[in-house]
Formats: sequence, C-alpha cells, structure tokens
Amino acid sequence: METQPTKPRISTRIENVAESATLAIDAKAKALKAQGMDIIGFGAGEPDFPTPERIARVAAQACLDPKNHRYTPTAGLPELREAIAEKTKRDSGLQVSSSQVLVTNGGKHAIFNTFATLVGEGDEVLIPSPYWTTYPEAVKLAGGIPVEVPTTLENGFKVKVSKLNNYLSPRTKLFVHVSPSNPTGAVYNLDESKELAQWLVDNDLWVMADEIYEHLVYDDHKAWSLPVVEPRLLDKAVVVNGVAKTYAMTGWRVGWMIAPQDVIGAATNLQSQSTSNVSNIAQRAAIEALEGTLDDVAKMKVAFDRRRVLIHGLLNAIPGVECPMPEGAFYAFASLEGLLKRDYSGIVPTTTAELAEVILDQAKVAIVPGEAFGTPGYARFSYAMGEKDIAKGIGRIAELVAGSRSM
Ligand SMILES: Cc1ncc(COP(=O)(O)O)c(C=O)c1O
Repeated sequence: METQPTKPRISTRIENVAESATLAIDAKAKALKAQGMDIIGFGAGEPDFPTPERIARVAAQACLDPKNHRYTPTAGLPELREAIAEKTKRDSGLQVSSSQVLVTNGGKHAIFNTFATLVGEGDEVLIPSPYWTTYPEAVKLAGGIPVEVPTTLENGFKVKVSKLNNYLSPRTKLFVHVSPSNPTGAVYNLDESKELAQWLVDNDLWVMADEIYEHLVYDDHKAWSLPVVEPRLLDKAVVVNGVAKTYAMTGWRVGWMIAPQDVIGAATNLQSQSTSNVSNIAQRAAIEALEGTLDDVAKMKVAFDRRRVLIHGLLNAIPGVECPMPEGAFYAFASLEGLLKRDYSGIVPTTTAELAEVILDQAKVAIVPGEAFGTPGYARFSYAMGEKDIAKGIGRIAELVAGSRSM
C-alpha cells in the first residue's frame, strides 16, 4: 500500500501566526514577578487604574438579573448599539445608525472581523510601520497580504502621502489607520488626516480606522476621525473602537466595529458562527461606561500626561537613546540603536530583540523590542504605571548602560 504523506498537526495558516509579542513579554514579566523577582514591566498595553466603580456596580447588579443569563442578538444588546452610535456622534462627530454597529469581544475581535469580512485571498492591505503587532497577523489569517509602509522618527512616524503610491498595486484593497498610534504615540493633525483621507478616496480604497485611543491625546493634539474629515470615505470606512483604554476596561472585552450596513450584516453572520454575543454582563457595564461622563478618563489623562513628560525626559537623558515626545496613547517609542554593540557583562547585543533580553535579565526591566512592531532598532515603553516605577525602571536601564563598555 502506498504510504500517505504525513499531514501537519497544525494547519499552515495557524502555524504561520506569530504569537502576540506584547502579550508574551507581559506574561514573562508577570511570571517572573510571581516568582518574587522585582521586575518593572513597560510591556503592558493597559491602563493601571481600576475600572470606575459606577461601571463595576452596574455589572454586579446585572449578574443577578436573569434576563442577562441568556443569549442576546449576535450584534449586541440594542441599548448598547444605540449607546455606541450616540457616543460616536458625541466624541468624533460621526453620525451612524445603531444598525451600523457590531459589538465584539474587544477591539481586537473587531479588527479580526473587519479583515475577515473585507479582505479576500491575495488582497493587499497597507499597514504603516511601526505597526501594532495584531494587524499583519490578522490580515494573514484572512488570507490577505500585509504590505508595510515604513515611516520614520524624523517624520513623527506618520506616512508621507506623497510616497503612498509606491505601495499601491492592483490588489490593494484596504489601508490601516490608527491615530493616536500604538506603538508610536503619533497623532495625525487635521491637515494630515484630510490629505490622507483624500488619497484614500482618490484611490478607491477601504480604510480601517482604529480609534481606540481617541481620548488619550496631549497638549493641543486631537484625534480626527477619517470619515468625518472626509465624508466621501463613509461608504468604505470601518471604525474600530472599544471601552478598554478609555474606561480602564481591558479585561471586560467589549469593542465594536462601525461600518456600512452590508459590511455589518456580513460580519454579524461571521460572528454568529464563531463567538455569538459578547457577555451580557460586560455589555451592561459598557452601556454604563458610554452613557456616563468622560470625567474618569480626564483624570487618567492628567496622570498619563505627567508620566509621558517624565519618561520622555528620562529616556532622552540616556546617551544613545532618542525618543520623540509621544502625542497620544500611553507609549513612548524610542530608538535604542545607540545601545547596541556594547558589552553588557560579556553579552554584546546586535539587535533590539537581544538587547531587550539583556535588559530583562540584567536590569530586571521588561520592554518590547521594535522587532515586534516591524521596526528593529527601537523599543516601546508603555507608561501606564506609577511615576515611581517609571523612574526606577528607566533608572535601572540608565545604570546598565553606564556600566556597559563600548566596543
Ligand atoms: C491600537 C489598538 N487597537 C486595538 C486594541 C484592542 O483592544 P481590546 O481588544 O483590548 O479592546 C489595542 C490594544 O492594545 C490597540 O493597542
């Protein structure tokens, strides 16, 4: 009998998915901490504040109400979809009907649903780099091809629209926009947003606008919603958002996508065959979050702003580090090129991935190397932690560098 070729245990599609480097580093730092090690973790992409009490109380009550013990419509509780439409009009000025909203298990799930719904086999998706780690992996899972559009520190990590044509092909379908950005903290101003939106319309492309950090903007920066600054984009725009960052609700897993009716219909069908409705308890909490004031995020923002100025100053004081001032979100993105090829107690890192290991092992500080964001030579520092820890963590890196030898 002919022997059959052995079938791979794991499908090649899943085999090709990279683990989320940010979650992996955060998990490693938390595991070392659990072993009793004094680790300072700059890896986490989550606010360190508790969810506001008014929200948690509504959820606690919701647990006791049997109507929340059942399935609800896949697309979400009608009251929540309504609250999302209202909140969107209030915060970004985008007017949509609640039927254009699909409630998802966090913003990440909204991104997955968006690519799965819009990106066909071999379709190309333009992703400015440094990019958030999930985008290219979710595009690949949908059968698409991520196309990196590099940006530079000198340009504030924003795309130059005049260069975008170089990345177009007949297969280009969608552009990924995130402002404020994870990992760079860059925020597109009104003119830059208009110019980009105009180019998208001219080239008949779809856009996925990730607005999850919309409220975390500093100084006079402001987050602009692309389909608001250019209404001709409306028919080809998907807006992704969620409660995670604004209300310190990362663990509750409520996000959403807003899109034209046919896209929401198709994405809802997909979700009906995969996760069904988001937990009703979390949905009730999200209604309370969205219908309440923005006072809590205003308070968090004041704290983030102080930390932003602190970490920016401390990082730039280390010889060999260059860090632009973050404009939004809660990340500092710094060039660490000047720290490579030095001798750290007998180890000479030549990449930021290696350097991050040295920093974790020798300084007990966790950072996310730029390789995770398609930008070797850099690293991301989340400043969602107290000022004391920021000073302690960056101080340890400064000490490590001071004790290293140039080669
Ligand atoms: C840019 C960006 N979009 C979306 C998300 C997803 O957030 P969640 O799935 O927790 O709602 C994150 C989380 O880190 C993010 O940084």
